[in-house]
Amino acid sequence: MTSTVLTGIGSLVTNDPSLGQGPLGLIADAAVVISDGLVSWVGRAVDCGPADAAVDLDGRTVLPGFVDSHAHPVFAGDRATEFAARMRGEPYAAGGIRTTVAATRAASDDGLRAGLVRLADEFRRSGITTFEAKSGYGLTVDDEARSLRLAREQTTETTYLGAHVLPEEFAGRPDDYVSLVIGEMLDACAPHARWIDVFCDRGAFDADQARAILVAGVGAGLIPRIHANQLEHGDGIKVAVEVGAASADHCTFASAADLELLAASDTVATLLPGAEFSTRAAYPDGRRMIDSGVTVAIATDCNPGSSYTTSMPFCIAVAVREMRLTPDEAVWSATAGGARALRRDDIGRIATGARADLVSLNAPSHVHLAYRPGVDLVDRVWTSAPKVGS
Ligand code: NIG
Ligand code: FE
Repeated sequence: MTSTVLTGIGSLVTNDPSLGQGPLGLIADAAVVISDGLVSWVGRAVDCGPADAAVDLDGRTVLPGFVDSHAHPVFAGDRATEFAARMRGEPYAAGGIRTTVAATRAASDDGLRAGLVRLADEFRRSGITTFEAKSGYGLTVDDEARSLRLAREQTTETTYLGAHVLPEEFAGRPDDYVSLVIGEMLDACAPHARWIDVFCDRGAFDADQARAILVAGVGAGLIPRIHANQLEHGDGIKVAVEVGAASADHCTFASAADLELLAASDTVATLLPGAEFSTRAAYPDGRRMIDSGVTVAIATDCNPGSSYTTSMPFCIAVAVREMRLTPDEAVWSATAGGARALRRDDIGRIATGARADLVSLNAPSHVHLAYRPGVDLVDRVWTSAPKVGS
């Protein structure tokens, strides 16, 4: 067993209040020992014993690798023209998804894989050490299964999103498509997925359809999560809590009753600052959510339509400025919050036994992630994420 000590850490975010100060468990002048891909010791550098190798971080900040619990990185093409039109005043609509569906269906496996690998690399460079990857741009049995197979080459957190939007060839026949999604398509996709998701919103699927799809997914061994209330008020959050979803995502339109339901449940609200930014929509009130007792995660929502970013630092800065999270809360939400949304306790924190997924910043504190928007502060990224394939 070889061990490496990271020392000279000016400020360490552990996300373990028992290890340091406040909810982030902050330790000044800290050291972390990594052995065989796991954290084997955390504390003040003066108390640290010897290790086989040492890295001096020269006063930098270290925090857990970001956990991106909501991303759509399996697609072909882009929608820059649609974005430019939106910035001239066009509204965002769910139907734009069909443009990416056509490009994705036409792409080769190698072409899709190359796009996914490029985005995985961007995630890593922004400090993301775990990312979720949804299907949802294939919308045929073969194209959805293929998307998930490719996603599985890069991450264990794969999500079947056959119910992203009604594909063109099913226009006027939503019930037939839902039958396919919970029938043959689910059978083909479940072996490659951990999660099931539905876009429950205007122009996509309604609450009854969403409920039926998520319940069928649970029957096939998948865990539910949902795109809820991005475009208007609706019953998506209610359905999420009802089916025990790990997360309700977007929550741009959330009523007081929705917040009460979330606060009393294990369902995390995952906020996606890049989506409101890139669709020029009003931001959800993250402050009110946290003050109501809701657990909040922040994720990139990386996709070519509504949020083409792989930068968690950007999302943190926007969540602080526009959703009224404090810098501490935003950093927690992008690390420990994401881990909660993925029901993981081996990531999102730096404590003995956790996975050695860490990021060092060229900054004296984690607050700089919001304080210095648009500046690439990520210095080094350590990860022990296993490569998976199926
Ligand atoms: O999370 N809202 C639904 N799905 C994506 C957008 C997909 C697209 O526009 O291509 C989202 O924002
Ligand atoms: Fe999304």
